[in-house]
Amino acid sequence: MKVKNFLKDVGGASRVTEKRLDAFENASAVLTNVDPIGNVAREWHPGRIELVVTDIRDACKTAKTIRLERKDGKKLPFFYAGQYIVLDLKIGQSLVSRPYSLSSAPCEARGEHPFAEITVRRSKGDGFVCDHINSELKVGDVITGKMGLGQFYYEPLRDCDHVVALAGGVGITPFVSMAKEINNGSLNIDLTILYGSVSADDIVLKEEMDRLEGEHVHIVHVLSGDDENWKGERGFLSAELIRKYAPSDASYFICGPQAMYTFLREELEKMDIPKRRIRFEVFGQAKDITKYEGYPAGLKDEVFTLTVRRGIHEDQIPAKANESLVTALERAAIRIDTGCRSGECGLCRTKVLSGDFYICPEGDGRREADKDFNYVHACACYPLSDMTIKIPIM
Ligand SMILES: Cc1cc2nc3c(=O)[nH]c(=O)nc-3n(C[C@H](O)[C@H](O)[C@H](O)COP(=O)(O)OP(=O)(O)OC[C@H]3O[C@@H](n4cnc5c(N)ncnc54)[C@H](O)[C@@H]3O)c2cc1C
Ligand code: FES
Repeated sequence: MKVKNFLKDVGGASRVTEKRLDAFENASAVLTNVDPIGNVAREWHPGRIELVVTDIRDACKTAKTIRLERKDGKKLPFFYAGQYIVLDLKIGQSLVSRPYSLSSAPCEARGEHPFAEITVRRSKGDGFVCDHINSELKVGDVITGKMGLGQFYYEPLRDCDHVVALAGGVGITPFVSMAKEINNGSLNIDLTILYGSVSADDIVLKEEMDRLEGEHVHIVHVLSGDDENWKGERGFLSAELIRKYAPSDASYFICGPQAMYTFLREELEKMDIPKRRIRFEVFGQAKDITKYEGYPAGLKDEVFTLTVRRGIHEDQIPAKANESLVTALERAAIRIDTGCRSGECGLCRTKVLSGDFYICPEGDGRREADKDFNYVHACACYPLSDMTIKIPIM
């Protein structure tokens, strides 16, 4: 086979060399440390930043909107409408982090007075961080966070220019961000939001949504509870209801509680919506890992010893069988990087040196090679015996 001359200049290597030689010839003799591209990249993606809480207001009876601004007064990092921020908080002795979808829009982060907002719902009694945010956080508090994470945003090469948002509860937040961006003229799509809540009191960010409705943003509220005065749609976001309001040649974006995902998968199947046009936001750590298939019976209240190696440090901490390795580390105030807390992003990737573990089947986003070399995503990994792990120093 005659390939020699064909391969000789693959990619135009000879032309590149000529260009580079020219560049060397004409370059200044004075050394420079100017890095304009690096400077823009650092400004847009600065990693963890310090944020000041500048406003807290009610988003409904059970949720609050928190406004955050940069402590150093600089512009906020770049993000797409639909992405989330991860906040790091010290609560008691624990160093915890949680992801929150940004309910403000990118245009608000780039405005004259840049800010970002999250909207957090308090729990029905079993919460930790959400209740702290709702009842302890105050204006003036400083927290660290990194923003612009996640894959749940409109991508013109992949998505249709009509997006149907199926939201439940506080899962409305990424769509409020998208609707604001559309109204600002910086996101050129049509958005139909079908939003399920239990009662009228539970509708998160109702006033903001009323203001956002317009030519390109349509919102249909659906209540599942028996609110006597409700005049709108009732029930769940069924195939029948979706067909009534949404075009079939659209992309479907879904964000809400875990149970809603199972239900909607079946409803969208009934509508023959191709899988490539359906996007689910991740929903965080499993509520009760003991309920998953294959989780060993009788372990729930067991507490194991977790040996944690970080560089030359070694700590031994307790790890509950029904809590993830990330939670054990956070309870012991050992920092580990996290993002999605759903096994997807890989930021909490950890090497297991010894011990048995269970991986949440819905959160097993590991690469095949990682499985072979005993790496886990610590947010989706639960100890079944004493374990030794190795994590990076933060
Ligand atoms: C991509 C994404 C976007 C999200 N967006 C939003 C949003 O816009 N709005 C919103 O309200 N929520 C959002 N969430 C959910 C949010 O991240 C939290 O899960 C939610 O606020 C509940 O947090 P929680 O700590 O109260 O409860 P959980 O996250 O369920 O955590 C409770 C767990 O905390 C652990 N814990 C208990 N005590 C301690 C302790 N002392 N130290 C350490 N750990 C302890 C225990 O394991 C307990 O089971 C989002 C989640 C994801 C994945
Ligand atoms: S935090 Fe994303 S995989 Fe663990």
